[in-house]
Amino acid sequence: MQDHLQLKNEILQKINSSSDLNDLDDVRIQFLGKKGSLTLLMKQLGSYEPEKRKEIGQKLNEIQKDVLEAIENKKLVLRKNHLNKKLENESIDISLPTRPENQGRIHPLTKTMDEVVSIFAQMGFSVADGPDIESDYYNFTALNIPQEHPARQEHDTFYFNADANGDRKVLRTHTSPVQIRTMEKLKPPLRVIVPGRTYRSDHDATHSPMFHQCEGLVIGDNLNMSHLKGCLIEFCRVFFGVEDLPVRFRPSYFPFTEPSAEVDIGCSKKDGELKIGPGDEWLEILGSGMVNPRVLQNCGIDPNEHQGFAFGMGLERIAMLKYGIPDLRPFFESDLRWMKHYGFFSYEQTSIHQG
Ligand code: PHE
Repeated sequence: MQDHLQLKNEILQKINSSSDLNDLDDVRIQFLGKKGSLTLLMKQLGSYEPEKRKEIGQKLNEIQKDVLEAIENKKLVLRKNHLNKKLENESIDISLPTRPENQGRIHPLTKTMDEVVSIFAQMGFSVADGPDIESDYYNFTALNIPQEHPARQEHDTFYFNADANGDRKVLRTHTSPVQIRTMEKLKPPLRVIVPGRTYRSDHDATHSPMFHQCEGLVIGDNLNMSHLKGCLIEFCRVFFGVEDLPVRFRPSYFPFTEPSAEVDIGCSKKDGELKIGPGDEWLEILGSGMVNPRVLQNCGIDPNEHQGFAFGMGLERIAMLKYGIPDLRPFFESDLRWMKHYGFFSYEQTSIHQG
């Protein structure tokens, strides 16, 4: 009896002092393996009297059970220790200061384009595009600007060298050629806007040889000047975020629209600072008009069946007005200081709705 208790204590102590899983397994083999001392004792049971055998057998079974349980418990402890040690060694020092971060900005022009597109998208417009290098036909002729028309001079066009047929390609001077391309491709009713690059040979604080416009074209049945006005008044008020923004339609002339109107928005100047909104001054921001029947005909649309309106605006110009940017030239100079000042963070939400 005494021996058995001693043996049990010895085993439990060895289990307890194992310092890792290998150690623990050695202990198990030493006592419970094929030639382990506990195993041997069990093998000897057969040589006892039945009474004795039963008594000792029971004892040994109990010891074996306790030992196995102790091994399992120790295993859990050793595994946990092992994991903790690993976590400790591999821990990250989160108190270290971060490296200076270089967060990029959204260019004010990109921001403006996104805003314009989303406002018109909510009015049911889709986005169309066309090539920057345009034929004379799409840029001028189809838009009712024939060869000797004075409007051609006004555009300060960049011409390519003439090809074998004498045709000269141009860098498109406005996004209006995409009106023609769209009407050739799609059947009315249609509603598109065309944000894109345009080119004119002009360079000063308010003109850049490359700039951006957004064209708009709506063709349907029974469309008239009031549809044009409603659409553009809504756009101006939402874009500039001024609910009672005065919008004025001033008679004008474009060869591809008839009648034509230039659109002005109200503003005031106080201490040299410009404020968009009700005031006693006006700023011109876009050109518009009912699509000239000749243009419709050029695209195979019968003007007696379909009518529509078109408009075009300079995107840098409306960006400058909305965001108070005084000079156009830095838009294309990639100066990071300018971007830091006028750029936008990507997570900044634009509210295009009022109220
Ligand atoms: N294409 C004209 C411009 O560049 C703007 C415009 C577009 C006017 C559509 C009327 C209709 O000035």
